[in-house]
Amino acid sequence: MDADAPITIRGLNHYFGQGQLKKQALFNIDLEIQRGEIVIMTGPSGSGKTTVLTLVGGLRGVQEGSLKVLGQELCGANEKQLIQTRRNIGFIFQAHNLLNSLTVRQNVQMTLDLQENSVDEQAEANILTAVGLGERLDYYPENLSGGQKQRVAIARALVTRPQVILADEPTAALDSKSGRDVVQLLQNLAKEQGCTILLVTHDNRILDIADRIINMEDGKLGGSDTVAGYVATHDPKSLDRRMFIESTGTA
Ligand SMILES: Nc1ncnc2c1ncn2[C@@H]1O[C@H](COP(=O)(O)OP(=O)(O)OP(=O)(O)O)[C@@H](O)[C@H]1O
Ligand SMILES: [Mg+2]
Repeated sequence: MDADAPITIRGLNHYFGQGQLKKQALFNIDLEIQRGEIVIMTGPSGSGKTTVLTLVGGLRGVQEGSLKVLGQELCGANEKQLIQTRRNIGFIFQAHNLLNSLTVRQNVQMTLDLQENSVDEQAEANILTAVGLGERLDYYPENLSGGQKQRVAIARALVTRPQVILADEPTAALDSKSGRDVVQLLQNLAKEQGCTILLVTHDNRILDIADRIINMEDGKLGGSDTVAGYVATHDPKSLDRRMFIESTGTA
């Protein structure tokens, strides 16, 4: 076990409901993710992917087992410790959760305002330029495309330079080109900042950004695989091989 791994999960179980209705959603999950690693989690609907992500993010309480995020044990952690952990995590969800009454710049600025540590004043403009929205700082979300909104969400998640990024179906609402662009952007920025990514997706078109692919099934974590191994063992009809060809940079 690597003490420096930003995410270490051991024997994690999770249950929903109580009494007769109590149902186990996660079974004995073991997982370690290294610094700078990009891990993609796949698996059928209802297999427990979002549950894992919300537990890692300190968004729900850990019931059983051990879950260490950035050195903090989240099983038995108090609210203050959970908040502190969340501060070091960037969240990106399918529904980008932008505030419609705020401009692009204000949506990103808001995350900085929630942080105690001081960040340079131009940070939000810089990161929005990096995601290609430098010209749209004063736009409102309603005047952006789906891909552009998701880029704002990525800028918002990255602006505080989090050590860990958790993304749940970040491309689900996007067409294939915007989905691909957004994820590539995420990969580039994350590699630059050296942060660790755990990304849930059903989207076979983005698997090649992963260092490792893991699979959830019925609340259990199956073996992990490299992208090449994953491609070799899955039905080729379900994979779009074009997406595994190196981008030429003209996109
Ligand atoms: N708040 C909740 N209350 C009760 N059961 C829940 C709750 N959240 C999730 N579950 C159940 O836990 C299991 C795992 O759900 P989860 O949302 O983690 O799946 P998922 O893999 O993210 O699915 P999807 O791909 O559809 O998003 C499912 O059986 C689900 O019904
Ligand atoms: Mg889910």
